Amino acid sequence: MRVMKPKTRSTKKRVARVGRRTARETRAPYAIKPKPIPPQTPLELATLEEAALAVGKTTHNIRDYIQRGRIAKYNTEGKRITRAQNGELRVSLYELRAFLSLVAQGNEKHHHAGLHPELGFYNVPERERTKHVHRLHPYLGKFIPQLVEWFLARYFTEGEIILDPFMGSGTTLVQGNEMKMHTIGIDISEFNCRIARVKTAKYDVEKARREILDAERRTTQFSKQLMRAPDAQLPLIPEEKMKALKASLLAECDSEYLKTWFAPRALLEMLYYRRMISQYEHQDLLRVVLSRAVRSSRLITHYDLATPKEPLPVGKEYWCRKHLRMCKPIEECLSKIHAYSEDTARRLEQFNHLRSDKSITVIQGDSRTVDLRKALETTPLAGRPIDGIFTSPPYVGQIDYHDQHIYAYELFGISRNDQLEIGPKRNGKSRQAQEKYVEDISAVFCNSLRFLRDDAKIFVVANDRFKLYPEIARRSGMRIVEEFYRAVTKRTEQGDDPYQETIFMMAKDENSGALKTTG
Ligand SMILES: C[S@@+](CC[C@H](N)C(=O)[O-])C[C@H]1O[C@@H](n2cnc3c(N)ncnc32)[C@H](O)[C@@H]1O
Repeated sequence: MRVMKPKTRSTKKRVARVGRRTARETRAPYAIKPKPIPPQTPLELATLEEAALAVGKTTHNIRDYIQRGRIAKYNTEGKRITRAQNGELRVSLYELRAFLSLVAQGNEKHHHAGLHPELGFYNVPERERTKHVHRLHPYLGKFIPQLVEWFLARYFTEGEIILDPFMGSGTTLVQGNEMKMHTIGIDISEFNCRIARVKTAKYDVEKARREILDAERRTTQFSKQLMRAPDAQLPLIPEEKMKALKASLLAECDSEYLKTWFAPRALLEMLYYRRMISQYEHQDLLRVVLSRAVRSSRLITHYDLATPKEPLPVGKEYWCRKHLRMCKPIEECLSKIHAYSEDTARRLEQFNHLRSDKSITVIQGDSRTVDLRKALETTPLAGRPIDGIFTSPPYVGQIDYHDQHIYAYELFGISRNDQLEIGPKRNGKSRQAQEKYVEDISAVFCNSLRFLRDDAKIFVVANDRFKLYPEIARRSGMRIVEEFYRAVTKRTEQGDDPYQETIFMMAKDENSGALKTTG
């Protein structure tokens, strides 16, 4: 058994004085309202774009502050509102500056509500939250790399092995590798594993870039032919030949979903790109570029890429909450392929400079039953006990993880394991769903803990609104050592409610007698 380093204990005490409580203490109220503005103070109303410009943030940041209740919503007359009509939303620059100055002083109101002042990451700009490969592909329910970094830096050291049994898009793996730790991720969804593998693979970056840009160039040529673009350089394919090409591409598409959710031009462009992929070496990388472009090319409103319910008719105008004007759903895919090709190559290159030589293992499987010893047999980690877990499990009844990438499953014909997903949205949040959730998450920890050293540190990021984790800890043979609280804006883009997230620090419970490392 390895002894906990003294450094860990003292650091823990110092950093966690505020924002953490022992399991016995009661939770502080969550809602924090902005301080009322003193009478006679000019509100200095601004649109989101103007406000972002004025304080050097993005409009996304400003929306975050509104959703977290840090600044209020106003209409154009300066009246506080809860719901803005089209185009009338304003914020107060006075209020915004006051909030940001509190944040800067480290005196933000979170502090008083028992939320950890450092774990809000308010002053981390969007580009840092989504740095390098973290934004290679959208994924609902991702955590920000700074959260992983904060805990790994304090509780683990270089060369240690970190497991994430709910890997998702691989945030823990990327961040852990950057911090010179070995990482292992498990996920039930094949597409999530592909995203994580593409993010973490080692590339000859120049070669990868050449392939991405070549596929983009060829799709551009195809699209010009398709649109019969008046391009002097380009001898147009005869009409008959073009017709035959289109027919053969459509013959390769047997997905009703693809035929319904994309305009005809977008569909042909994505099918053409897909057909080319087998001619390249970095096939999953190209699939990730294409999938990201395809996600943004659905016949949906620009403001609801995350959870669209049904496709809009081609050409249908709607009021766009994102662009604050009338918009139409996109009809082509090429512009998105352009946008994401160079971006992907650049992000790979950035991570390539930061990555360490530590091993990264992605395992596609059910974390309740996966045999980690076998899965690691051929890796440099074979036979070594795992030093800790950093993970964020699915929350009960919140997201259908396969469904969020339905377009990718349909486009690439990837097989699905929906029935093995823990706590899916479709099963709801009923008492029965919660009981099943406790059973399943406990099964994951029981399975994983067998491979952890006896003094391993286990961090679980959870939105435990039903207070299920004390029971999960008990059933898994763990004890909760500390709880850290942080506020999060909607992770799922499914509602306007911000919520509180708990990071449970747990340890194997020596008294439970249930667990012994099997190595
Ligand atoms: C909250 S997400 C993790 C997100 C991740 N932290 C990130 O930053 O991308 C939870 C993940 O658990 C996965 N999952 C659900 N049931 C599972 C199971 N039985 N075994 C393994 N993974 C599962 C889902 O597919 C999903 O990707």
